[in-house]
Amino acid sequence: MKLDSTCTSALPVVTMPTCSTPPVLAGQVALVTGANSGIGKGVALALAQAGADVVVNYRDGREAAESVVASIAAAGRRGLAIQADVSDERAVVAMFDRAIRELGTIDILVNNAGLQMDSPFERMTLAQWNTVLAVNLTGQFLCARESVREFKRRGVRPEISCAAGKIICVSSVHEVIPWAGHVNYAASKGGVMLMMKSIAQEVAPYRIRVNSVSPGAIRTPINTAAWSTQDAYDDLMRLVPYKRIGEPEDIGRAVTWLASDAADYVTGTSLYIDGGMTLYPGFETGG
Ligand code: BGC
Repeated sequence: MKLDSTCTSALPVVTMPTCSTPPVLAGQVALVTGANSGIGKGVALALAQAGADVVVNYRDGREAAESVVASIAAAGRRGLAIQADVSDERAVVAMFDRAIRELGTIDILVNNAGLQMDSPFERMTLAQWNTVLAVNLTGQFLCARESVREFKRRGVRPEISCAAGKIICVSSVHEVIPWAGHVNYAASKGGVMLMMKSIAQEVAPYRIRVNSVSPGAIRTPINTAAWSTQDAYDDLMRLVPYKRIGEPEDIGRAVTWLASDAADYVTGTSLYIDGGMTLYPGFETGG
């Protein structure tokens, strides 16, 4: 059977009825880290289509970030590109100061920036370990902390959203699936899972919701080797019961829902968006 891998990009972004006025994220400001490419870019565009103004954070790649800002403007929303390395505390604080000064507040943080530095374990350098943990885990901590400070300062505006703020961490199926050759990456995502849940527990009384999306294999630059040739793609499909690769739009729609009031009672949850990768695909044909 020939299966289409592109059908999802045409699906609309979620627009379900909520206690705030449609479009679902109207009047809200989102900050998406690492939004110049891949999943971050897909999420930034989905949030803009749902009515949010969007801060497009990037570390390198200013032109790509500016082109995402141009697409946000084409959707009728305000975009603002801000350069910052999320693992640098001063840069993160400065980014939030500027975003709040220029756009008024932050309602939604999407903690997306992340990287891989793969290596067989015994050859993994301390620099490879530290860099991955610094960006993937410490970076999410620093951005979440600045967001919570702003959410608590501002409080709930019921005409805008039922919640004072929403944080969506971009984790991975590798928060639960061990990954040989990627020990630093899997450790960082396992850390994101319990960091997310612990923050969620702590800030829920302030009407701040904290959740993760945990993507499987999504067609982005981070994993080009896994999908760019037919052989690699066929190999990858052995790990995906749904038999197609994910697209950034799949993640964009889920993040939009988690950020919206339609998900107002959802906090502390990891939403796996993986075509079934976490369903033990080795058991598809028996056990
Ligand atoms: C990784 C990708 C990988 C996917 C599924 C993601 O978190 O960044 O490189 O293809 O998990 O294994």
